[in-house]
Amino acid sequence: MTSSPTSGFATRAIHHAYDPQDNEGALTPPLHLTSTFAFETAEAGGEMFAGDRPGHIYSRISNPTCDLLEQRIATLEGAEAGLALSSGMGAITAVLWTLLSPGDEVIVDKTLYGCTFAFMQHGLAKWGVTITHVDMTDPDNLRGMISDKTRVVYFETPANPNMRLVDIAAVSEIAHSAGATVVVDNTYATPYLTRPIEHGADIVLHSATKYLGGHGDVVAGLVVGTLEQITEIRLVGMKDMTGAVMAPFNAMLILRGLKTLALRMDRHCASAQIVAHWLEAHPAVKAIHFPGLESFPQHAVAEGQMDQPGAMIAFEVDGGIDGGIAMMNRLTMIQRAVSLGDAETLIQHPASMTHSTYTPEERAEHGISDGLIRLSVGLEEVADILADLESALSPAMQHAAE
Ligand SMILES: Cc1ncc(COP(=O)(O)O)c(C=O)c1O
Repeated sequence: MTSSPTSGFATRAIHHAYDPQDNEGALTPPLHLTSTFAFETAEAGGEMFAGDRPGHIYSRISNPTCDLLEQRIATLEGAEAGLALSSGMGAITAVLWTLLSPGDEVIVDKTLYGCTFAFMQHGLAKWGVTITHVDMTDPDNLRGMISDKTRVVYFETPANPNMRLVDIAAVSEIAHSAGATVVVDNTYATPYLTRPIEHGADIVLHSATKYLGGHGDVVAGLVVGTLEQITEIRLVGMKDMTGAVMAPFNAMLILRGLKTLALRMDRHCASAQIVAHWLEAHPAVKAIHFPGLESFPQHAVAEGQMDQPGAMIAFEVDGGIDGGIAMMNRLTMIQRAVSLGDAETLIQHPASMTHSTYTPEERAEHGISDGLIRLSVGLEEVADILADLESALSPAMQHAAE
């Protein structure tokens, strides 16, 4: 073993659960491109199917390359076990199909990533699950709504796209008092900044497409929880209900991404703090939402559960949908693209893109204004990020003055 459970975050992200000497000295773990696994004897195969013998059967259940990634994300999140899935949405659907049955209720925060919202509203609801939206930024709202029908309490923190934070410890305590399971989407923070299980959450999931992969070249999802929970999600939600299994090659890309996660996050966060202060002072910016600013209403929650405030910024410009689109079209280096957490600084407009699955009324109710812009601060020189933003925002000022 080349790292121990007490090794630091970056050490475990690089070494955990792999010893090159087990693989002819290969520094990089092997890629197991195999769909199926040969049993030494028929009896051994039977024992594996019965769960009486460890080993791999078929890559829709498990694969050694995915298995290493599962162990790595589990140690980084401080969980017992992990599971690798084909995408963040694969992770979300596999978890919720496993935990929920018709007649159950899931309570979700007011702000969710657009496809998660769509899955709840148009997917789960169709199968007899009640979806209740509660503003969890005040945990007392949850206390008033939770009941013995509530099986799952689900939220993102920070939430996509408007950066609202949910106090994980306060919400988990209320959820547990009603016997509900707490599921947190930790995509924005990553385990380098927030480890929800330390604050009382039960299951944590990720779009690994984002910071964990980190290079914009793979779509992937991860889940962590107890071994019992993960085994159930693996065998029910992943194997039987969705088939949303991660390809071994994609697991390798995420393993590579994890090696530099700490390094990248430090740089993302340092640049985002500078960009956020700059945007806050810019006259063309009507409002800014970033946990690292003292003006952020939940700054104290951020300090309690985030090691750094992250690198996602939401800000509002004048002129509604058209104002947002015009500003984005003036950028030259920053890329107009959905997704986040890549080396490239990415910008998108939730009302016309990621959150277009909400109706305009739903967007207004859920705090996603028409002029809201989402910025994923990348790894370029921060001076170049600011220069591009300046060239896009200052004409907006001149236009407004005319
Ligand atoms: C917070 C959050 N959760 C889940 C997802 C879905 O992940 P994926 O695109 O990997 O399916 C996204 C995608 O943007 C996201 O931003």
